[in-house]
Amino acid sequence: MQAVNAWQGPGEAAFDFRSDVMTRPTPSMLDAITNTSLGDDVLQEDAVTVSLEQSIAELANHESALLVMSGTMGNQVGIRTHLTQPPYAVLCDHRAHIINYEGGGVSTWTGAYVKGIVPKNGRYLTLEDIKPHAVLGDDIHGCPTRLISLENTLDGMIMPLDEMKRISKWAHESGLKVHLDGARLWEAVVAGAGSISSFTSLVDSVSLCFSKGLGAPIGSILVGSKEYIKKARWFRKSIGGGTRQSGVISAAARVAVNETFGSGQNGEGSLLLNSHLMAKKIATMWTEKGGKLNNPVETNMVWLDLDAAGVSNDDWVEIGRQHGLKLMGGRMVVHYQISLEALDKLDKAMDLAMSGKFTSTTTSEKNGQYCGQT
Ligand SMILES: Cc1ncc(COP(=O)(O)O)c(C=O)c1O
Repeated sequence: MQAVNAWQGPGEAAFDFRSDVMTRPTPSMLDAITNTSLGDDVLQEDAVTVSLEQSIAELANHESALLVMSGTMGNQVGIRTHLTQPPYAVLCDHRAHIINYEGGGVSTWTGAYVKGIVPKNGRYLTLEDIKPHAVLGDDIHGCPTRLISLENTLDGMIMPLDEMKRISKWAHESGLKVHLDGARLWEAVVAGAGSISSFTSLVDSVSLCFSKGLGAPIGSILVGSKEYIKKARWFRKSIGGGTRQSGVISAAARVAVNETFGSGQNGEGSLLLNSHLMAKKIATMWTEKGGKLNNPVETNMVWLDLDAAGVSNDDWVEIGRQHGLKLMGGRMVVHYQISLEALDKLDKAMDLAMSGKFTSTTTSEKNGQYCGQT
């Protein structure tokens, strides 16, 4: 039997709204992999990896960068590197990936108290949200704040550049470090929120992902000062993140940045832009059928309010399955490989969901319960 060549097209990814991590690597990534260098990255001898690290550091206006295997590894190594001696606390948005979806890693690796803050505007944290939760003095009853971890985009929503400037300025004046989970910062940039370096130069460290909307098979990168990245390399090693012939990862990541994000600081010619337009179209399709949204559409995510529509998560997933779509719940993630055919199918799936005619095949009530999210 002839093997299917999975590299030749997006395949099932074209119908998969569960996450942008479902994007498939492309033939040009495969081509780059076959032409990559094969040096040992633990010894820093892989030319393509060294060059990728240098160019992303430059793009982010920082001294140095470190290839890591995943966004989780970028955040965990990044946060661990900032913290030296408990007691200490990390402040972040209560919906942050580092709190909810990284296996409790910050507690495991650092012993830090991680405090999740609810933004008053429901979209992004402001300085006024953060300040009352920061412990800056030396009263021994408190757990001293050492780090603020921001996330941009968060749930597809943008933290505006001006707000990030205010938070970072105040944090630095208060002796705090700032980390940015920029797994999807590319999306904010393409949406016109500011250039890559306008965001990244505000913070002490940033983790950027190659394997979400950009479509690389593996990899993220942690960026910071020379001294910080030197130490981060140590922590990466200690958790098994030192890889050998990492050129196979870096080569595909390089193509993902150049071809999907686009060129320069603002992602000229970006393939991400179309997924933002599609997300807006999906939101309109839903609201025109009487549906409500849980969050505004600012980049590539659409949050369908299934509760308001009287549809359970499980039923929505099943309706999607019957229409040839992969869904995970009310969060719809649009990526550049989603097809127009998928939008047609989604339109029909929405019609059925809103008609009240779908007979539930399950009795489970999963809405509101924990649901893993990537
Ligand atoms: C905002 C954010 N940060 C970090 C991660 C972790 O990335 P990974 O799945 O590569 O560990 C994700 C995953 O989707 C994410 O959404």
